[in-house]
Amino acid sequence: MDVFEAIRNRRSIRKYLDLPVEWDKVGSILEAGRLAPSAGNLQAWKFVVVRDLNKRKQLAEAAGQQYWMEQAPVFIVIVGVFNKHERFFGQRGKDLYVIQDCAMAAMQMMLAAHSLGLGTCFVSALQEEKVGEIILMRGGARPMGIITVGYAAEAPKMPLRYRLENFSYLETDAGLAYVHGYSPGRHADFDFEMSNFRVAQRGINYVKQAAQDIDRLTREKRKGLLQRMIEKAKKKGAESEGKKG
Ligand SMILES: Cc1cc2nc3c(=O)[nH]c(=O)nc-3n(C[C@H](O)[C@H](O)[C@H](O)COP(=O)(O)O)c2cc1C
Repeated sequence: MDVFEAIRNRRSIRKYLDLPVEWDKVGSILEAGRLAPSAGNLQAWKFVVVRDLNKRKQLAEAAGQQYWMEQAPVFIVIVGVFNKHERFFGQRGKDLYVIQDCAMAAMQMMLAAHSLGLGTCFVSALQEEKVGEIILMRGGARPMGIITVGYAAEAPKMPLRYRLENFSYLETDAGLAYVHGYSPGRHADFDFEMSNFRVAQRGINYVKQAAQDIDRLTREKRKGLLQRMIEKAKKKGAESEGKKG
């Protein structure tokens, strides 16, 4: 699956089919987390896979009674290990880098799961102490979140997102336009750049759609085309051999 397609189509899934998740897929998801970037490459995470129904129920309870979670056959509890970061990077490492490391790993795992046909949801509304007790977490660590994993029983639409121009700026916070006295509603450089971007984006989408349409319309005609071409080439080869003979 194309990376951008995975990013665009991934959704938080809160309804799951009563189907187990193949163990090799769980392994691939963990591997995607293992490969995530981390501050100083310290990889300050642990991934605790929970399949036991009783534990899943307790975790759902400890996650603000989000009982929908129980349906997901696999939970991955992401545990941030902060003592390493504290030693290397001081307070900022402890307060921030460990969270950032875990967030990077979580995102990679969710995208990997999506590309394997699985649904996930990142759940962070946790009573940390309770979660720690359930998974017998050791010291110097914090549960950062739980990723529920399973086959989706729903296909939610993308929740609304802000438009790019609402939060992306050139060069300075709030953008050059503001430095030069931009007031919303007035035509400014930034609006212009963004409208160019949108026109280009429309063009790309148009071409993509056209390629899909052509593919759909010609699929029948192309069926067996390669085979026919091979046979034709073979026949031609045989004919020229015959002429030589
Ligand atoms: C830090 C964080 C915490 C979240 N916590 C919860 C949660 O406790 N329960 C839940 O159902 N979804 C939770 N979510 C999922 C968000 O609700 C979801 O990502 C958001 O609504 C956008 O939907 P999408 O993931 O389908 O694009 C969390 C997401 C993030 C990034």
